[in-house]
Amino acid sequence: MTERTLVLIKPDAVARGYVGEILGRVERKGLTISALELRTAPGDIAAAHYAEHEGRPFYPGLLEFITGGPLVAAVLEGPRAIAAFRQLAGGTDPVEKAVPGTIRGDFGLEAQENLVHGSDSVESAEREIALWFPQLAAN
Ligand code: CMP
Repeated sequence: MTERTLVLIKPDAVARGYVGEILGRVERKGLTISALELRTAPGDIAAAHYAEHEGRPFYPGLLEFITGGPLVAAVLEGPRAIAAFRQLAGGTDPVEKAVPGTIRGDFGLEAQENLVHGSDSVESAEREIALWFPQLAAN
């Protein structure tokens, strides 16, 4: 079944010049890029996006990081797109969890500056798509 997922190529990955590398992996996997935008995240969108992490020790730093420079927001589509992108990304911690061959495993060192975000469920995907691309909201 075709799914949609919201992906962020985070400011660390943009600053390091990995946008093409990451989108290349997405395309080679067979996922379709149905929306793509370079932007600096406003504080309210960043806070809403990461609302589930409010109260965690890393939350203030995470908001500062994610709003601190341009990022690329994208909507990807394809069969099992949510799991497919999370497979490409690797685990959250680029050293402890992500394995070589994944985006985080190949290019990351820090839990926060972990290059990409991908929605973790259909519900999160629809919530995040509505936040970043209101024109694409389901209804
Ligand atoms: P993401 O998949 O976007 O979801 C939440 C983000 O919080 C995560 O990627 C990291 O950028 C960040 N994060 C998660 N755990 C930690 C941590 N222990 N320390 C700092 N940042 C974290």
